[in-house]
Amino acid sequence: MKKNIAVITGDGIGPEVTQQAVKVLDAVAEHFKHSFNYTYCLMGAVAIDETGDPLPDITVEVCLASDAILFGAIGHPKYDNDPTAKVRPEQGLLKLRKSLQLFANIRPVTTYPSLHHLSPLKSKYIEGVDFVIFRELTGGIYFGEKKTNEEQTWASDDCSYTKEEVERIAHLAFQSAQKRRKKLTLIDKANVLETSRLWRKVVKEIAPQYKDVKLEFLFVDNAAMQIVLNPKQFDVILTDNLFGDILSDEASVITGSLGLLPSASIGNSNALFEPIHGSYSKATGKDIANPLGAVLSVAMMLDYFNLKEEAQLVRDAVEWTIKSLFVSKDIDPVNFYFTSTIGELISEYISGRISGRVNKENIELRKSTII
Ligand code: IPM
Ligand code: MN
Repeated sequence: MKKNIAVITGDGIGPEVTQQAVKVLDAVAEHFKHSFNYTYCLMGAVAIDETGDPLPDITVEVCLASDAILFGAIGHPKYDNDPTAKVRPEQGLLKLRKSLQLFANIRPVTTYPSLHHLSPLKSKYIEGVDFVIFRELTGGIYFGEKKTNEEQTWASDDCSYTKEEVERIAHLAFQSAQKRRKKLTLIDKANVLETSRLWRKVVKEIAPQYKDVKLEFLFVDNAAMQIVLNPKQFDVILTDNLFGDILSDEASVITGSLGLLPSASIGNSNALFEPIHGSYSKATGKDIANPLGAVLSVAMMLDYFNLKEEAQLVRDAVEWTIKSLFVSKDIDPVNFYFTSTIGELISEYISGRISGRVNKENIELRKSTII
């Protein structure tokens, strides 16, 4: 299989984790005789530095012409505390989502038994947690009209949704539930917001097409509690752009490390894959970031290409590194392995160069020293 992949390494730790993801894609290509061609493009703070634009037109063109997009991270501290900044790195990502109509952001939340001790929740609450969040990504308050008066004593953000915008993601969420444990929870604030009432109405109208899926509703404030009180109750969560942003960060930490989680942003003809962690500027260039979110995003990309065996092998390789304690600093602050070492180990596993018996001594040489 031949695929063209646009690679946007982005800001902060983006380049170093994306490099591992590309290594893994190369190992998959070699092992299964595929051909993946990469075109590197700019977006975010690096794009502002080089071109003045957080999303140069050429990046959009390359992405539109690609079979998939691999993305690292976005954001730089120099913009975070400056409310007057006219141009921001994040605008690049928002504009890309809108231009490509990547309307469904899919964030799976799974836990690994050997990492339970890292979770802020007690093990008994997280054992077996396995759910997926479908967050609407191109509408709602993120993209509504933004206004402020001249004196800057007033501001407003408009939140609106159309029936079609709700329908298209709701269908994907129902279909995902059908393939899983057949439960869908719509999270909204229908006791207060008109947009949430529209979501409920549209989702209820669609529900009869998916009779095998049990549909439930939760208000977002209650949902925020339920995610920490009893995360096992969830299978597929469906929610709007802003609630999805907040709840997916909350959900991600119960797994023990934000660094582990992948995501896919899907449209009708394009798809982007990225780890859900941010640019983590403090760790930039230190080779200590967790590459697993980026590598697992590659697994989601392979699934999207319908390369199921390949995707499974990547996931097996990731599980093997975790079980073997070849983990990054966020997971083991003392005996940690470098980002690049973990990327190599995963690639070697995929290539079949590691067969159960690992020469730990060689790997130890590439291990970090205690800083
Ligand atoms: C995310 C991020 C983005 C968002 C930012 C970087 C604009 O937090 O992908 O969740 O808010 O959507
Ligand atoms: Mn977010």
